[in-house]
Amino acid sequence: WAKPHEVVITADLSKTGPVINKDIYGQFAEHLGRGIYEGIWVGKDSPIPNTKGFRNDVLDALKAIHVPLVRWPGGCFADEYHWREGVGPQDKRPIKVNTHWGGVEENNAVGTHEFFDFVELLGADAYINGNLGSGTVQEMAEWMEYMTSDKNSTLANERRENGRDEPWDIAYFGIGNESWGCGGNMRPQYYVDLYRQYATFMKTPPGKMPKLVASGGHTEDTQWTDVLSANIDSNMDGISYHFYTLPTSEWKEKGSATEFDNNMWFKTLERTMRMDKYLEDNIAKLDKNDPEGKLGFYVDEWGTWYDAEEGKEPGFLYQQNTLRDAVVAAVNFNIFHDYAERVHMTNIAQMVNVLQAMVLTDGEDMLLTPTYYAYDLYQVFQDSTSIPFTIESDDYVVDGEKLPAVTASLAKGKDGKTYLALVNLDPTEEAKVTLDLSGKKVSKLTGRILTSDAITDKNTFKQKSVVAPKQFTAKANQVQLPAKSVVVVALN
Ligand code: AHR
Repeated sequence: WAKPHEVVITADLSKTGPVINKDIYGQFAEHLGRGIYEGIWVGKDSPIPNTKGFRNDVLDALKAIHVPLVRWPGGCFADEYHWREGVGPQDKRPIKVNTHWGGVEENNAVGTHEFFDFVELLGADAYINGNLGSGTVQEMAEWMEYMTSDKNSTLANERRENGRDEPWDIAYFGIGNESWGCGGNMRPQYYVDLYRQYATFMKTPPGKMPKLVASGGHTEDTQWTDVLSANIDSNMDGISYHFYTLPTSEWKEKGSATEFDNNMWFKTLERTMRMDKYLEDNIAKLDKNDPEGKLGFYVDEWGTWYDAEEGKEPGFLYQQNTLRDAVVAAVNFNIFHDYAERVHMTNIAQMVNVLQAMVLTDGEDMLLTPTYYAYDLYQVFQDSTSIPFTIESDDYVVDGEKLPAVTASLAKGKDGKTYLALVNLDPTEEAKVTLDLSGKKVSKLTGRILTSDAITDKNTFKQKSVVAPKQFTAKANQVQLPAKSVVVVALN
């Protein structure tokens, strides 16, 4: 019998920190595997109930967690995407080969109009990623005009003929993706000049300009953030950054999504917690080059990446999702909240059927993953105002390596209530969390918990609710936090 971990959270609830931008809860939908086709799009003639071609079951699930923002069409796909191939009558659109992802046929059924239908149905904002790697300045400039112009120009009229009178709003527009890799294998110095050139020609009517996103670095690299923020002095609202959690550090053998032991659980959490240091290091570069804090730091791809499932096309990046993924998600939310001053937007990779997905589909069937429920619990943090706090937590130790046993978030929600999120990373020990709130007594904490019997528990098409939230309450400034759990409670 072991003693529970001791944790003390200290805060003055009358103090406020930065707003936790709702776009931190953004998602990513790439033309990859069964992410778009089957996952969200089945076409208007499908027997699967749909609205404008988008499956109703998935739409309803995503609406329930209030997805604020969707990034599209890639990813690596974005730098090979030519927008003209995805407008006009669907049966006349060219069939391409998706060279990045499985070499499958891409019939361009989902193009610009369909994507905006999708985000409108969801009530989400649009994050479009432009093609810098293999497209021209003219192509990108014309796409922007097509989407946003309110004039009587030929391009705007083509949009009208294709069924859309009003220009669309674009919240973010990315100029290239992973330009250090699949987006063109560039060096940051070269990308800087290309960015400056492309961004010059991004023109919209007044008030319609999206936030322009430069494609930055990944993992421990800070050079891209440094070189971009030092050399791009206008037409840039933020720099993107990618970090994927692999249980091992090996791309060839990343580890299984569903079969792992307590050691591998620890390793996965240790690797995902590196997000904290990587953000700190990159934001230090921004603070040096942009001391006024004008630039955002956008983690526009993150999440777990495991070995492809046996028997599945490896290029489709389909993986199952367990309680471990929910804990990974919640740990990252807590880190993003800590950096809310700069981190205004993130996109988990990806929304449906790809990598750390919210939803998995199988024909007409659908299930919600543990990660979905982590997003569900944390909804109350969208556009909340953070409350500064300190946390003293015992360590969770494996083979002499340490992680904090508990991480947390504290914020005032848009509904005026104070919310506390707690994650117990330790798969075997519970934690006793004491709240020291400048003398304020909390009579009751009410909310929900996500946990399960085994670390590998998952939802399957046969058993869809193995990992699902349950009601949770605690009393008087103290929470008994079960092992391997995520809790979000309102303080009353
Ligand atoms: O999310 C899958 C891929 O990961 C994206 O297409 C790419 O940007 C990244 O390498």
